[in-house]
Amino acid sequence: MNYKEFYTQSIQEPERFWAEQSRAISWYKEPNNILSKGQNDYPLWFADGELNACYLALDKHIVDGFGHQTALIYDSPVTQTVKYFTYNEVKSEVARLAGGLLALGLKTGDTAVIYMPMIPQAAFAMLACARIGVTHAVVFGGFAPHELAIRIDDCKPKAIITASSGIEIDRLIAYKPLVDEAIVLAQHKPKKVVVFNRKLGARVPFKKYDVDYDALVYGSEEAPCVALCSTHPLYVLHTSGTTGKPKGIARDTGGYATALKFSMQYIYGVQPGEIFWAASDVGWVVGHSFIVYGPLINRNTTVIFEGKPIRTPDASTFWRVISEHRVNVMFTAPTAIRAIKKEDPNGDFIKQYDLSCLRTQFLAGERCDVATLDWYREHIPIPAIDHWWQTESGWPMISNMIGVEAPKIKPGSVGKSVCGFNIKIFGEDGTELKAGEEGYVVIQLPLPPGTLLDLWQEHERFKADYLNQFPGYYFSGDGGWIDEDGFVYITGRVDDVINVAGHRLSTAEMEEIVASHHSVAECAVIGVNDELKGQTPLALVVMKSGETIEHFQLEQEVVQLVRKQIGAVAAMRDVVIVQRLPKTRSGKILRKLLRTIADGKSFQVPSTIDDEAIIDEIKAVLQAHKVAAFK
Ligand code: COA
Ligand code: AMP
Repeated sequence: MNYKEFYTQSIQEPERFWAEQSRAISWYKEPNNILSKGQNDYPLWFADGELNACYLALDKHIVDGFGHQTALIYDSPVTQTVKYFTYNEVKSEVARLAGGLLALGLKTGDTAVIYMPMIPQAAFAMLACARIGVTHAVVFGGFAPHELAIRIDDCKPKAIITASSGIEIDRLIAYKPLVDEAIVLAQHKPKKVVVFNRKLGARVPFKKYDVDYDALVYGSEEAPCVALCSTHPLYVLHTSGTTGKPKGIARDTGGYATALKFSMQYIYGVQPGEIFWAASDVGWVVGHSFIVYGPLINRNTTVIFEGKPIRTPDASTFWRVISEHRVNVMFTAPTAIRAIKKEDPNGDFIKQYDLSCLRTQFLAGERCDVATLDWYREHIPIPAIDHWWQTESGWPMISNMIGVEAPKIKPGSVGKSVCGFNIKIFGEDGTELKAGEEGYVVIQLPLPPGTLLDLWQEHERFKADYLNQFPGYYFSGDGGWIDEDGFVYITGRVDDVINVAGHRLSTAEMEEIVASHHSVAECAVIGVNDELKGQTPLALVVMKSGETIEHFQLEQEVVQLVRKQIGAVAAMRDVVIVQRLPKTRSGKILRKLLRTIADGKSFQVPSTIDDEAIIDEIKAVLQAHKVAAFK
């Protein structure tokens, strides 16, 4: 097939193109209304179709005679466990868990929060919700109770599904007490908390609302899949925005299932029956799309990996998993490869494993530097494909589509527009820029199926964040440029969102927390370049006058505050004290200028700055503090 023709069809005749793709999945009622308009003319896909995502992920394959195929491999170096689950086994557990949730009073249209480590039960919980039309909201386990509480209040779940504990390398993290604390903090009180007891460490005290996961599963009848409207929200997944409050990305069912099936075949080039491993977490969009729903809908074997690229037990783990489970296509974040490269620069571990099964390596979640890509290609001579997408899109927007044609890799580029995504680069005033010119990455509406349906209960914010800036286009929040051949280069976020070790975080939220410290008058949090994590947050703090707190103590307290409120995953470690912050004459903090100074890049002094002398003051402080660019 020819990429250019296939892509052009998708842009010129989107309805025909996606109607055809939608036939690759099974519907209870096939859609006639392919593309319609929802609120504010925003596109809706397959609005009159009916289906069930859990049916597509499990039951369908059993009906087709593949019940004995391995659906899921649980590989947990932190508990030294490997377990295999067939499609029959997963379906049986998921259907009974769904029956249990119904017995607890959950029904189609309700919501449930899932707060789980990387164990199979996390995927089972998601699928059980999907089976009965309960919209799930998975919260990443690295978030603290305060963050969990914000999401509980946003989604108002009838139940939370959790586990007794998770393991971070060699550290037991008791999840259940974190859930209890979040319930105390939240205004909304879920009726039930279903707890999967991992029987690790001490037993946690039982609360009145607790229900034992195993007892619920084994004491319940299997529930059938319910037929749901295509636009039924399969899930809400919160992501960081430019304010302190995370955004709940709402995802539909029919468009998403169509897009995932399409992605597995045409982007990742994976055939049903093959082994696909996305080394991410169910708490992120990668986990939703390419650990759980995508590979299962495509009848692949998916891997749930409870470990890290290094230290579980060493930098050989990824290669062991690939070789032991005969992984065909893998997905990870560049930061994971950087971590491995640091520990094993000569690739000695790689040589110890038979990786002949591995065909393609996909990378995403943050910018992939060319040195990391080169290192990978030097040691593993297969296509290593950087590709670009977001929680909002739900599936890749720019990539090589290796199921369509052989990859063409230009290091530094994330590839070309994927079918359905009409990507353009705009200047500030909304005019389209020419090849080679850097600007805002936007996508012409309608977005293809599977992309965000709305922001959960926040339609006005949805319009303000994505649609209003460039009418008729979706604004991605990223900057970039396109070359003469159509290859896109992403230069980074143009807003206050940062990416720490592939984790998307809001500096605005961190600023709110830092500013709540009693010694702080005002502050700015920026992302600075980091060799391993891509970016790390740095807080520049102006103290209240008369404050005598030592720098070391302030740093400790601020770091603890951020850990307590957001979680360890924020990786806030650096706090510097400055006398003042650079501002415009109207009093706005010049964060972009701060970022440029901290990264040691050249810049033009903004004409709006109220006092130029401050630039040298800031440089001197960052130098004294040995911030990356000044080391
Ligand atoms: N539950 C509880 N705590 C968690 C957690 C979880 N699920 N995930 C991370 N944390 C904690 C870590 O224990 C660590 O705590 P610490 O500061 O007390 O040590 C902190 O959050 C930061 O974790 P992490 O970002 O994982 O950094 P690290 O230094 O432990 O490891 C890497 C560095 C590069 C190995 C790691 O970040 C990594 O594997 N990144 C890949 C991320 C990824 O796949 N992202 C998916 C996007 S596609
Ligand atoms: P998330 O919503 O957590 O997946 O984060 C999405 C953001 O991560 C994007 O808006 C980009 O800023 C960044 N990102 C994801 N993939 C890439 C990539 N391949 N190259 C550069 N940035 C990326």
